[in-house]
Amino acid sequence: MNYRHAFHAGNFADVFKHAILIGLIEALKTKSTPFCYIDTHAGAGEYDLRGLEPNKTGEFVDGVQRLLIADSLPASLRPYFDLVRALNADDANGHLHRYPGSPLLARSLLRDTDRAVLCELQDDEVASLKKLFAADTRIGVHQRDGYAALAALLPPKERRGLVLIDPPFEAQRDEFRSIEATIKSAYARWPTGVFAVWYPIKQHQHVLPFQRWFARHGVKKTLMAELMLQPDDSPLRLNGCGMVIVNAPWQFDRWLEKLMPDLAQVLARESRAEWHVEWLVPE
Ligand SMILES: C[S@@+](CC[C@H](N)C(=O)[O-])C[C@H]1O[C@@H](n2cnc3c(N)ncnc32)[C@H](O)[C@@H]1O
Repeated sequence: MNYRHAFHAGNFADVFKHAILIGLIEALKTKSTPFCYIDTHAGAGEYDLRGLEPNKTGEFVDGVQRLLIADSLPASLRPYFDLVRALNADDANGHLHRYPGSPLLARSLLRDTDRAVLCELQDDEVASLKKLFAADTRIGVHQRDGYAALAALLPPKERRGLVLIDPPFEAQRDEFRSIEATIKSAYARWPTGVFAVWYPIKQHQHVLPFQRWFARHGVKKTLMAELMLQPDDSPLRLNGCGMVIVNAPWQFDRWLEKLMPDLAQVLARESRAEWHVEWLVPE
């Protein structure tokens, strides 16, 4: 495996994914009973934006950095950006040098009774996660295949919660098939769990079989949000990305319809960014 998330930390896809992740966790927190957050592909948990990898690609400049320089930040993006800013509170010049991955964002939202389980395969990323969360007894770090781990982890004892599936997509079509197989068995074990799957869009036609899969396999209440920054006419570049949410929280479609135009406006490049929210399987 060659993938290192440090090259992409804070890029437009992270902004999209992490803003939605925060909305999903906040929706779980509308009930007082504890929940469990499971991150099948956790990454390092935190990234140094002054490091070699992020600066080699510069992807964060057209991602989280856009929010920093925006004249006025839309209210829908505040919860996300406030968490990023909080992590950088020690920077006297207001620069962003640290970027939180999904585990750190989730941790900042957990209550005392909530719990998180993080799965990651690479040694360096696991070491980083263990260091970050060593003192937090609510968080378990597992060096194991996140897909395989779900069989043992589900359903969680809390019977409420969220699974984030955010793989590297090194082999795009194979990854979609792995996700489908994983959701099939995970959903059978835990039909009320919320499952959020991030996916890249190079050419839209390659994503359609994955989107159709949910209705065909009897998965219910499945919502999709997509952000396209460029036309999908090149198979080589990341033109956009999407998130599929199984068992989407109540009125999450409306929440997304407020967030997505703001994301599109802040992250747009040369041409207008497009967004789309749709129920793949209705409520
Ligand atoms: C896109 S990154 C995750 C980013 C993270 N979720 C975030 O939002 O900050 C994907 C991660 O999955 C890890 N990975 C790849 N295959 C895996 C597997 N089968 N199980 C667990 N982790 C895996 C990679 O090492 C990489 O760190």
